[in-house]
Amino acid sequence: MTRHLITSALPYINGVKHLGNLVGSMLPSDLYARYLRAQGHEVLLICATDEHGTPAELAAREAGLEVADFCAEQHEVQARLGEAFSLSFDYFGRSSSPQNRELTQHFGNKLFENGFIEERVTKQVFSIDDDRFLPDRYVEGTCPHCDYDKARGDQCESCTRLLDPTDLINPRSAISGSTNLEVRESRHLFLLQSKLSDEIRAWVNKHQDWPVLVSSIALKWLDEGLHDRGITRDLKWGVPVGREGMEDKVYYVWFDAPIEYIAATWEWADEDPANRDWKSWWYEADDVRYTEFMAKDNIPFHTVTFPGTQLGSREPWKMVDYIKGFNWLNYYGGKFSTSQKRGIFMSDAIEMLPADYWRYYLLANAPENSDSSFTWDGFAGTCNKDLADTLGNFVNRILKFCSSKFGAALPEGGEIGAREDELAAALDKRLAAYNTYLEELQIRKAMQELRAIWVMGNEYLTEVAPWTAFKTDPEAAAASLRTAINLIRIFAILSAPVIPNASRQLSDALDLDLSETDWIDGDMLGQLKVLKAGHAFTIPDVLFRKISDDEIAEWEAKFGGSAA
Ligand code: 2FM
Ligand code: ZN
Repeated sequence: MTRHLITSALPYINGVKHLGNLVGSMLPSDLYARYLRAQGHEVLLICATDEHGTPAELAAREAGLEVADFCAEQHEVQARLGEAFSLSFDYFGRSSSPQNRELTQHFGNKLFENGFIEERVTKQVFSIDDDRFLPDRYVEGTCPHCDYDKARGDQCESCTRLLDPTDLINPRSAISGSTNLEVRESRHLFLLQSKLSDEIRAWVNKHQDWPVLVSSIALKWLDEGLHDRGITRDLKWGVPVGREGMEDKVYYVWFDAPIEYIAATWEWADEDPANRDWKSWWYEADDVRYTEFMAKDNIPFHTVTFPGTQLGSREPWKMVDYIKGFNWLNYYGGKFSTSQKRGIFMSDAIEMLPADYWRYYLLANAPENSDSSFTWDGFAGTCNKDLADTLGNFVNRILKFCSSKFGAALPEGGEIGAREDELAAALDKRLAAYNTYLEELQIRKAMQELRAIWVMGNEYLTEVAPWTAFKTDPEAAAASLRTAINLIRIFAILSAPVIPNASRQLSDALDLDLSETDWIDGDMLGQLKVLKAGHAFTIPDVLFRKISDDEIAEWEAKFGGSAA
């Protein structure tokens, strides 16, 4: 059987991540991992904090901490938040690890040996007032392509183009705001991507199944021509280049960050070396299928730059098989932004409501084919209707009614018939579609199927109305209730990758010991009869509570929603 390697784009260390980061890589990677585990596959889900580069240094400076201390602290914060959102990473590593240092230097050396890296004398922005070079985000100014006036020296957040600090119009220091800048010479390593362009294109072209968003961005970059890029910086924090004459330089964060996917797997293996073999996942790993999750600004680095690093090493590293890319989740018309502290951050969200509300809403509204918008009304509407009314209410209504009329166990008597055959046939169809969409990573469509499955339970209940049947035909009511309680079991299993905590509450209520590898392979008629008469249950606490209009108004005011 195929082994599945899954990585989520590595969240920057520079602060708690917002819901846009969550839905753009971490959450869907978890959904996919949970689904594949449920299919019985061996899965390794890897993530890590991306700790180098100027964003980390700037954030540490703002927090008044040494950058290493800042990173250690923030790594813990992000790891705890990942757990709070039930992200089932097999390992959550750190790009500042010794393993990543070793691998990054290894790739750098291999590329050098193979003629894909050369030293060049470059012109760098130097701040006279700050008495230092200003690489990447240490310099801000106007984007020469789109005129956005808060563009940074590494990339324009508005048009996503990569920049060099010297490209910016009206540059200023991000440290002091000083415009007293000059251009000085400094020697750096350059990755000769142009030499690898044909190979990268041939590799991209082999992947005709990639989403259009992904392949179009990759091909656009290749068509525009790959520029040789400086991959070292005049900084102290980062992976040291480790070459003579380059003692004061480190690798550029975007060079070492994707290598951390491999290094984090090594970190994972180092925790249990007798049983874990990181290389088997990454080196000559022909039995591994590798899937990456990321937002669209990351696509060029994963379709062009990192593959170039891997190809140029001339070693048999595992390259990505499938890339799931996402558009932006917007917040009232603008982007969520960490640096501008705009939108809802994971730490705020989890204090307001448990993870499953956010997980379901975000996955149901994932920005797959276009940007999508978070609104408080939309969020509350979805939670109230789908989670509270459709799923939660179904469960509580049945279990309470059954318990009051027949006791807290599945009732005896009656037979299921044509209506249940019909229900099972409809469920079989929905399940097939749900499986297909999850396999194909069509996340919104998968969520529509899941919701449709919940709705079918409600429709069934409305039709068979055990509350009225009970008065005239208690046997029929008993048979319907058994079916309905079996539906709760089906919901628990099928909802687990999406809302794992609610799913656990359901299986606990039914006294089932479901594991992460439980799934349903069809035969819904059989599934409607798994729990037999006499099987005891308990009534769970309200699964999902309703979000009130007052709360919406309060949150809108607090986070700057429509009123802002
Ligand atoms: O865009 C980002 O948030 C980056 N930290 C993603 C890095 S992904 C990988 F290459 F490490
Ligand atoms: Zn721009």
